[in-house]
Amino acid sequence: MDIRSIDTSFLTWTGDTLALGLYEDQVEMTDQLGQLNDLLSGLVEELVTESDFTGKIGTTAVTRVGVNTPVKKLILVGLGKEEDAKPHTIRTAASSIARAAKGQKSQTLAISLPVVDSAASTAGVITEAVILTLHQDTRFKSEPDSNGIKLQTVELLGLGDQEKAIEVASKICSGVILARELVNGPANTVTPLTMAETAKEIASTYGLEIEILGQQECEALNMGAFLGVAKASELPPQFIHLTYKPQGTPVRKVAIVGKSLTFDSGGLNLKVGGGIETMKMDMGGGAATLGAAKVIGQLKPNVEVHFICAATENMISGRAMHPGDILIASNGKTIEINNTDAEGRLTLADALVFAEKLGVEAIVDLATLTGACIVALGDDIAGLWSNHETLTHQIQNAAELAGEKFWAMPMEDKYFDGLKSSIADMKNTGPRAGGSITAALFLKQFIKDTPWAHLDIAGPVWTEKEGGTNNVGATGFPVRTLVNWITGQEIVF
Ligand code: BES
Ligand code: MN
Ligand code: ZN
Repeated sequence: MDIRSIDTSFLTWTGDTLALGLYEDQVEMTDQLGQLNDLLSGLVEELVTESDFTGKIGTTAVTRVGVNTPVKKLILVGLGKEEDAKPHTIRTAASSIARAAKGQKSQTLAISLPVVDSAASTAGVITEAVILTLHQDTRFKSEPDSNGIKLQTVELLGLGDQEKAIEVASKICSGVILARELVNGPANTVTPLTMAETAKEIASTYGLEIEILGQQECEALNMGAFLGVAKASELPPQFIHLTYKPQGTPVRKVAIVGKSLTFDSGGLNLKVGGGIETMKMDMGGGAATLGAAKVIGQLKPNVEVHFICAATENMISGRAMHPGDILIASNGKTIEINNTDAEGRLTLADALVFAEKLGVEAIVDLATLTGACIVALGDDIAGLWSNHETLTHQIQNAAELAGEKFWAMPMEDKYFDGLKSSIADMKNTGPRAGGSITAALFLKQFIKDTPWAHLDIAGPVWTEKEGGTNNVGATGFPVRTLVNWITGQEIVF
C-alpha cells in the first residue's frame, strides 16, 4: 500500500473511493461540500438524510456514486464538534475511513480531513491510523484471506507536500507492527532465543549495538531473581541489551526495560484460576521495547537509548523454584517467593539494577505485570507509577500525542508493609488488595535514585474486540508513547 500527499482538490480527484471528514453541526450543503453535492446531482445531501448522518465522531455514511463516474464510492466520516478537535479526532476518523474502505473493497482512496495542529502532524496521524487499522496478522493462516485488503494507494488531499511526515509515520508503524507480531506469536514460535534473534536483526539492520547475556553471564552478574524464574524452562534465558547511540553527543541517555516472559504458566503456583492460554502475551513489554528500538534505529534522534529485555519462560519442572525459596537479586536484596506466579517483577528486578548501572538519566519499565491493574483500570488503560513528577508528565504528554491511555497511580509507600517478610528483605507478593501498587513498590526496591517510571500494560497489549486502530489480538501498545517520549515529543515531520 502506497500512501502519498497530493495537491488535487476533492472536487476534481478521480479514483475508486473519496472520503471526507465533516464536523458535527456543519453538515450543510454550502461551500465545497455544496459544490460536490451539485457535481453529484444531490447525492451527498441524500446520503446525509437517508443515513441520518450528523457528523458524530467516528461515524460513517457510505454510498456508491456510480459505475463510470470519476469517483465510484463516497465515504463521509464524522469528526464531532470542531471546538473539541484534537489529533486523536483525526486518528479516530482516519481509522473509521480505513475500515469503511476495507468493507467497500476500495482499491484507491482519497482522504480529505481538516488540519488539526499542523498539516504535517495531521498527515502523520492519518498515515499511522490507516496502516495500523488495516494491519492484519495472517502469518499463521495456511490460506490467504479471500476478504483481504484491496487498497493499493491512499492519497491525502489538502495537506501540502507531506512525504517526510508520511515516511516518519510509516517507520513508527513498522515498530508497532513488530510488537504486534511478537505478541501474537505463540510461545512455540516466540521464545527467549527468537527474541534475541529479533534484537540481533534490529541491531544489524539499523546499526545498534547488541549484547546478549546467557545463563552463565547472568550468573556472573548475580542475577538470582531473573535466573530463579528461568530455572524450570528447557529454553535458555536470554538477557538482551540493545544500545542506540546517536552520531553526535546525545542530549539524553535513557533506558527502556520490557518484561519478556515468552510464556507464564504461573510456575508451581500454576495458573489454575484461568487465563493460562493467553500467557504468550506476557512478553508484551519486551515486544514494545524491541518495537521502539526498531523505530528509534530508523528515526535516529539525538538520544542514547538502552533497550533491555530479560527474556525467559515461567515453567514447571523438577528444577522449578519452590514457593518459599529465597532468591538473591543482583543488588544483594533477598526475596522470599510466596507466589511463583509473581515472576515478572523478579525478572525486572535484575533488569532494573542492570539499567541503573548504565548511568542513564531515566528508566522506563513496561510490563504485563498484574491482573490487579486490569481490575483497577480495565482493558484499555495502563497504570503509570513513578518516583519523579517531571517524568510522569513527560510520559503523559507522549501518551496523549500517541492516543494511548495511561492513568497515574499512587506509589503508596505504606503498602510496602504488605511485602514484609520475616525471613528475607521482602516477599514477592502482597495481599490481593492493591496488587498492582505493591508490584510497583516491589520494583522500586531495585532503583536507587534514578528517575524511573513503571508502566503496567497488562490490559492494553491485547484486545478481543476491534476498535480504533486495533484489530483483535495484539495492539502494539505502547510503542508510540515510548517513541514520542524518547524523541522528546519533537519528531520532526
Ligand atoms: N503475567 C501475569 C499478569 C497478567 C494477568 C498479565 C492477566 C496479563 C493478563 C503476572 O505474571 C501474574 O501472574 N500476576 C499475578 C500476581 C499475583 C500472583 C500477585 C496476578 O496478577 O494474578
Ligand atoms: Mn505470573
Ligand atoms: Zn507474568
